[in-house]
Amino acid sequence: MSRSHYEFLNFSLPFMFCLVPLVCSQLDYKFYDYTCPNLTKIVRYGVWSAIANDTRMPASLLRLQFHDCFVNGCEGSVLLDGGEKNALPNMNSARGFEVIDAIKANVEKACPSTVSCADILALAAREGVFLQGGPYWSVPLGRRDGLTTSESAANTELPSPFEPLANITAKFASKGLDMNDVVVLSGAHTIGFAQCFTFKPRLFDFDGSGNPDPTLDASLLSSLRSVCPNQDSSDSNLAPLDPVSSAKFDNIYFKNLLNKSGVLQSDQALMGDNRTAAMVLNYSKYPFLFTRDFGASMVKLSSVGVLTGKDGQIRQNCRVVN
Ligand code: HEM
Ligand SMILES: *[C@@H]1O[C@H](CO)[C@@H](O)[C@H](O)[C@H]1NC(C)=O
Ligand SMILES: *[C@@H]1O[C@H](CO)[C@@H](O)[C@H](O)[C@H]1NC(C)=O
Ligand SMILES: *[C@@H]1O[C@H](CO)[C@@H](O)[C@H](O)[C@H]1NC(C)=O
Ligand SMILES: *[C@@H]1O[C@H](CO)[C@@H](O)[C@H](O)[C@H]1NC(C)=O
Ligand SMILES: *[C@@H]1O[C@H](CO)[C@@H](O)[C@H](O)[C@H]1NC(C)=O
Ligand SMILES: *[C@@H]1O[C@H](CO)[C@@H](O)[C@H](O)[C@H]1NC(C)=O
Repeated sequence: MSRSHYEFLNFSLPFMFCLVPLVCSQLDYKFYDYTCPNLTKIVRYGVWSAIANDTRMPASLLRLQFHDCFVNGCEGSVLLDGGEKNALPNMNSARGFEVIDAIKANVEKACPSTVSCADILALAAREGVFLQGGPYWSVPLGRRDGLTTSESAANTELPSPFEPLANITAKFASKGLDMNDVVVLSGAHTIGFAQCFTFKPRLFDFDGSGNPDPTLDASLLSSLRSVCPNQDSSDSNLAPLDPVSSAKFDNIYFKNLLNKSGVLQSDQALMGDNRTAAMVLNYSKYPFLFTRDFGASMVKLSSVGVLTGKDGQIRQNCRVVN
């Protein structure tokens, strides 16, 4: 074959690849194997050293991945300054941006302009869960970074802890995630913390009843009341989402729900529907089932609305578009 024939092939193969949308939009486990072989090591080191300073970081990175994917897909929009960062569920709440910046800087040194911020976040979330004693799953890669970030989309599309389960499952369904994904991904609340204002209505005058939430265990109620006294000044105090084993990624979150010991109203609400309650019972009894399903649901979550091929860009700095 002539040289020009080869050039034609080099040009046309990736192009033809993208004429088939399903194939073109596919992520790939080996995406950076040749272009950035040390990527996983660099991300793992970045998360590990962040944890050495702040043991809460795996939880914060995991939540950041969720918030990225639910708003305009997993394209790093939550990392952009302005926009989503100012939305109610993120402002004074979303954390871990400096950790992603530090990892990105190291990745740029090893493989300049190659790895997206969206992929770094997906890997960092996985590494954090693993380093916290949780499952390890393979992360398909090749996401590209988006060009926009929307405060209003974050306000409307992210679930609120005060919404009924039906509203939350509807929001998940709109992202292609089912009721089982809602339950298994809620298991992320086996690590990390919540500010008092996100559950305080349960502690004192629940739904105007003058009494606390009847689905909240009495001894947990009294310990939450001591962290979150009934005054505005306690709003940003922190309580662990898993009061029993907050530092470990395990299935105790589900056992807590059986004991009326979910912290958020939306956590305990998983026991209020017999379909989700049966799944909670399953995960409380079989840790391996939770481990397996959590990884599978994270792969689903981290594939929502990804940009691939010619869309998006590889951001130089995760906080601003190029
Ligand atoms: C099902 C609907 C969900 C609701 C209503 C919800 C709500 C919340 C709220 C209110 C907080 C506390 C935020 C604060 O106090 O600043 C929180 C924390 C957290 N959420 Fe969720 N969440 C949901 C699903 C998820 C999912 C799917 C994940 C990940 C897969 C996740 C991971 C986390 C983690 C790890 C934390 C602790 C973060 C930290 O300590 O920095 N959540 N969530
Ligand atoms: C990967 O890291 C090793 C050291 O851990 C280093 O020797 C090697 O040069 C790195 N490879 C690339 C492509 O950066
Ligand atoms: C360590 O963590 C604290 C928050 O807990 C943060 O304010 C600080 O910047 C971190 N320091 C380093 C070197 O990462
Ligand atoms: C739940 O969804 C319904 C229907 O979309 C809506 O009218 C209601 O305000 C939502 N409830 C909450 C608490 O957001
Ligand atoms: C749930 O309650 C049972 C019975 O009261 C108790 O044995 C168990 O330790 C509790 N589990 C958790 C996770 O609190
Ligand atoms: C779920 O609960 C409803 C009403 O509480 C009941 O009619 C139904 O039989 C239950 N379904 C299952 C599968 O338990
Ligand atoms: C419990 O887990 C088993 C094994 O994966 C599954 O077959 C079954 O459907 C699950 N039950 C519920 C209610 O999710």
